Amino acid sequence: MSKPIFVLNGPNLNMLGKREPGIYGGKTLGAIEADCSAEAQALGLIIDFRQTNHEGVLVDWIQEAGDTAAGIVINPGAYSHTSIAIHDALRSIGALPVVEVHLSNIHAREAFRHTSMVSPVALGVICGLGPIGYLLALRALAARS
Ligand code: DQA
Repeated sequence: MSKPIFVLNGPNLNMLGKREPGIYGGKTLGAIEADCSAEAQALGLIIDFRQTNHEGVLVDWIQEAGDTAAGIVINPGAYSHTSIAIHDALRSIGALPVVEVHLSNIHAREAFRHTSMVSPVALGVICGLGPIGYLLALRALAARS
């Protein structure tokens, strides 16, 4: 059986739907997961979609992906801007392709969101396009395999 793509979501993304809908839209994370599952099926991919509010859990999942996954789509939420631990974890898994996704355009928001610790270790970054960014990330990974 082919390896899954891990779709990893960081803190507060479980609040989508009720969290600042003017910025993040009205879709719940469950609805985004359903869209990702449908897209993955169409692309012939298997996905493992997860969310946590805890930095160390994201590190654990990235390490797990290094052993078991074909690639990672990650929206690290606010940890994007702060987490050297997530940066280091992504560096440590070597050749695994990583696509960073943000629903909002982090470059058009507060200055503290303009830097991402993840971008330097990502294959590519998609931001500002809303939930479709996850689907574009899956397509990008499918096109490489
Ligand atoms: C986010 C952007 C981050 O700055 C923020 O902390 C989030 C969500 C996005 O998807 O737009 O939690 O990653």
